[in-house]
Amino acid sequence: MRFSEFLVRTLPKAGGVLFLSAAAAVAAYPQDKPVYLDGTKPIEERVEDALGRMTLEEKIKVIHAQSKFSSRGVPRLGIPEVWTTDGPHGIRSEVYWDEWNQAGWTNDSCVAFPALTCLAATWNTELAHLYGKSIGEEATFRGKDMLLGPGVNIYRSPLNGRNFEYMGEDPYLAGRMVVPYVQGVQENGVAACVKHYALNNHEINRHRTNVIVDDRTLYEIYLPAFKAAVQEGGAWAIMGSYNLYRDQHCCHNSYLLNDILKGEWGYDGVVVSDWGGTHDTDQAIRNGLDMEFGTGTDGLRSGARNAYDSYHMAFPYLEKIRKGEVGTEELDDKVRRVLRLMFRTSMNGDRGFGSFCSEEHYAAARAIGDEGIVLLKNEGNILPVDFGSVEKILVVGENAVKMMTVGGGSSSLKVEREISPLDGIRERAGSDVEVVYARGYIGDVTGEYNGVTSGQDLADTRSADELIAEAVAQAKDADYVIFIGGLNKSKHQDCEDSDRKGLGLPYDQDRVIEALAAVNDRLVVVNISGNAVAMPWIEEVPAVLQAWFIGSEAGHSIADVLSGDVNPSGKLPFTFPARLEDCPAHLLGEYCGEPVKDTVDIEYKEGIFVGYRWTDRQKKTKPLFAFGHGLSYTEFEYGKPTTDSSTMTSDGHVTVSVDITNAGQRAGKEIVQLYIADRKSSLPRPVKELKGFEKILLQPGETKTVTFTIDVDDLSFFDPEKHEWVAEPGRFDAIVAAAADDVRGSVSFELK
Ligand code: GLC
Repeated sequence: MRFSEFLVRTLPKAGGVLFLSAAAAVAAYPQDKPVYLDGTKPIEERVEDALGRMTLEEKIKVIHAQSKFSSRGVPRLGIPEVWTTDGPHGIRSEVYWDEWNQAGWTNDSCVAFPALTCLAATWNTELAHLYGKSIGEEATFRGKDMLLGPGVNIYRSPLNGRNFEYMGEDPYLAGRMVVPYVQGVQENGVAACVKHYALNNHEINRHRTNVIVDDRTLYEIYLPAFKAAVQEGGAWAIMGSYNLYRDQHCCHNSYLLNDILKGEWGYDGVVVSDWGGTHDTDQAIRNGLDMEFGTGTDGLRSGARNAYDSYHMAFPYLEKIRKGEVGTEELDDKVRRVLRLMFRTSMNGDRGFGSFCSEEHYAAARAIGDEGIVLLKNEGNILPVDFGSVEKILVVGENAVKMMTVGGGSSSLKVEREISPLDGIRERAGSDVEVVYARGYIGDVTGEYNGVTSGQDLADTRSADELIAEAVAQAKDADYVIFIGGLNKSKHQDCEDSDRKGLGLPYDQDRVIEALAAVNDRLVVVNISGNAVAMPWIEEVPAVLQAWFIGSEAGHSIADVLSGDVNPSGKLPFTFPARLEDCPAHLLGEYCGEPVKDTVDIEYKEGIFVGYRWTDRQKKTKPLFAFGHGLSYTEFEYGKPTTDSSTMTSDGHVTVSVDITNAGQRAGKEIVQLYIADRKSSLPRPVKELKGFEKILLQPGETKTVTFTIDVDDLSFFDPEKHEWVAEPGRFDAIVAAAADDVRGSVSFELK
């Protein structure tokens, strides 16, 4: 019996009329809203309701792109389309519906946040959350539902053009930093799309590389950051990578997507192809791909069906279903995942409206830059610069003035503002200090990517000798010489779809640095890059800063650290090898530096021994700078580590504590690192592996106790035969360190 009939039977006629009309009004409004449109209903109910209402054609439409960066909704049901946007460092400006070139909007100049290597170098998980929250707000404000980032591919080779977009060589650090970033983004009702899953560790031949790597290395090195992003970060999207693994493209790779991601990890989000990463209809259907983007469409082909209907997961898929060649089980799983994405984002009535180019976002970018800069060397403590007591500073180098937010590939941005290092130094020095600029060398004078131009004219016809002579002449009477060079975002530098040709600085910068070192002993080299570089002049240069691609606030952050307004606290997220051949990917291979026409097998022969896991085992070679290295303007003293128990049971844990003291005259932040060493194991293991870190602020003279909790997972290695993580009983060392090559103490315990 309906509620209105019940009322009529029980109420006296006269009074009933009044109640009836009121009841009818109540009954008509909220109860009849379809479940999929009712935000108060659980998402899974909304998914099933929407799925049940969709036609076969509508289901096909939502699993592939309709334009460069969007996929179709279900117009008939009022389900909106999904808008994706690059990239990990900021919200990319609008391109045409189906072209890479700029659409010429005037409301899409964004904040460029620091590159993710800089975020990783902060080792500050709170900043990682702030980063995700801020960029998520920019995405929401710009009407985007999915951010195509962050990237967490492991730093295997210093030549990889995209390392600047990733979080270094260690899976534990990358995992700890990616989780809060993902959470911060998704709190805005925007999906983070963690990329590029998986084994996309160089750019040359990126579509044709077939990676050969053993399961143990896959699980211990290349998957953990993705697993953390999914299982702890709750990522709603994952992007497949261009390369192949086990002879299948990763965008439709059954082992990676069905067995591991969706099977072992229980992932309920969408798998998005990289743009143009889909190559086979049957594999796309069966191997776990959910949304196909960027397949070789060159726009709407006149006469032929819409180019997007020719995608693998479009008309070809529909035809196979209509012919009975495939069922609709895979399709319904894909559509459920896409609908889940929609209810989490575009149809999430609770998501805010975000914010864009706010001072809070600039402050966030600056804070990340301030804490990400790494003081690599400071002999004689010539840094910080006391701007109050100097008269002349010479700034040399193209990277002091060159815009770095334009270029580098899909992470290129159109920014509202970018403070150059020279401008930042001039602003901080004030009018009493003469800040002279000399070009020093000519690098890359273009400043354009896909139609976004820097607007700078860096053309210069002078010869290298003239440029060096000018800089040297100015250097002679300068109180400080600050050389600002490194790499840039052009091809064969730090740039997508190409790798570097070598470890050295380009454009003969070494010659400039050596000439300056010969005439001024207060030379500071600021290396702006997302990769390690060779430093043959390191003995002649007293101070070196690693200043990443910091984005809109680059100049402010660099000046903050040079001046001592900020005490540097960053530490390297990857090893700086002294020579390329000290890097196992290049010593053992394999790495292919030449373009190939067909597929090329690249075997990761170094296995798990990547980065410091390799250098720790070398007797003869030492890195230029170690993983986890970074100095401060103050000194930190470490006490002796202690443990609460000398034994651990398999379901228990052990805590390790250590006192850290600021023995200097100024406040500073220290990143205390915990590594675990397994003294005896049935399989070869690294000397030590990072399993904990904590960043603490200490006032001068202050002591804090840092405590790490170690459990059996921290002791485990992946046993490929058993296909599971194993911790073998025996003795382990808990090593407390300031860097991978700076051990401050250890304490051992027994796993029973
Ligand atoms: C690019 C990149 C990917 C990016 C996508 C869209 O080729 O590999 O990171 O998000 O295509 O631009």
